[in-house]
Amino acid sequence: MNVQRPTHSADASTVEDALAAGNYDPVIDSKTATDVALQNTLLTPRFYTTDFDELDAIDVSSVREEWDKLIGQMKADPNKGHFKKNEDWDHIDWDGMEPKLKAEFIDFLISSCTAEFSGCVLYKEMKRRGSNKDITELFQLMARDEARHAGFINDALREAGIAVNLGFLTQAKKYTYFRPKFIYYATYLSEKIGYARYITIYRHLEANPDKRFHPIFKWFCEWCNDEFSHGEAFALLMKTDPKLTESYANRLWIKFFLTAVFSTMWVRDHQRPAFHAALGVDPEWYGQEVFRKTSEISKQVFPMTLDINHPRWIPALRRMQDANAQIADGRKQGGLGGWFARMAGSAKAGAAFVSLLTIPVEKNAVPDSPRLEPAY
Ligand SMILES: [Fe+2]
Ligand SMILES: [Fe+2]
Repeated sequence: MNVQRPTHSADASTVEDALAAGNYDPVIDSKTATDVALQNTLLTPRFYTTDFDELDAIDVSSVREEWDKLIGQMKADPNKGHFKKNEDWDHIDWDGMEPKLKAEFIDFLISSCTAEFSGCVLYKEMKRRGSNKDITELFQLMARDEARHAGFINDALREAGIAVNLGFLTQAKKYTYFRPKFIYYATYLSEKIGYARYITIYRHLEANPDKRFHPIFKWFCEWCNDEFSHGEAFALLMKTDPKLTESYANRLWIKFFLTAVFSTMWVRDHQRPAFHAALGVDPEWYGQEVFRKTSEISKQVFPMTLDINHPRWIPALRRMQDANAQIADGRKQGGLGGWFARMAGSAKAGAAFVSLLTIPVEKNAVPDSPRLEPAY
């Protein structure tokens, strides 16, 4: 039988086909973009690995009904064929774009592409190593979606003469090991915060279409629905073992991950002032709005939310942002002076993080059934 491979990742039904699709070949092997994607700092997206056998041993029978419903929705694949350019894709004058905006926007696309691909690599590996039908099926479906997302961003980058060599990245990027429970917390949060980020920008641009300086934002609605379902899957996985969210130690871990994910997003977004100005979005407003939505959603499974209205919250985030700028300046400056600036910046960032971490949480009674539908 002659099976035709799709020419575009958007049309692929499996992650393997998506990664083999024509739009995955870097037409231009952009070394700088790949180097940026290779960076491992506190602020750049990482690649993860975990104890795949432990993940494979999960028994989803306690959430069977909701599980089958979610998998059914994902298998129905409403977004097949969606993540590629069509007649809604407006022409972009990359050469005419204001240089600072261009640099920040490209940085945004590279970092988003790396993050999508990081999910793809982790999920694909789980699917490959596992033998538990429920788990491998879920991870195959999620890997398929992330491969499409990454492929689509790479299409957008290619128009600017840039492509991240994703195959090379898989080989060359360092992998960070996380125990499965940390994968649940971190990945659940990154899927849900991804949903909140994409939908907030999408709704803002729906109301202010003149600010839509690139067509990719038109795709954010279906995009965030994919991320929403991925987050739902992790909520169900956590539900299979109540200890994961109820024990004292794990509550502390959840608070730590919430604080780390929120503050990283804040600092990272503040590095792109021109990008947010072009969208007509105040990064502080945007940050708080995304935190509010993510907190509200995470009540489905986490027994607490962070108090993002606490008087110490925003001032500590601002200090963290200042400290980060100081570290970056120190790195640029180099030498002994630069080293001192970096050390002082790191100490300041650490103190700001502790200040965030010691804000009392708001307790939440978790519902029996975690399932939600995207509502924003
Ligand atoms: Fe994604
Ligand atoms: Fe996702």
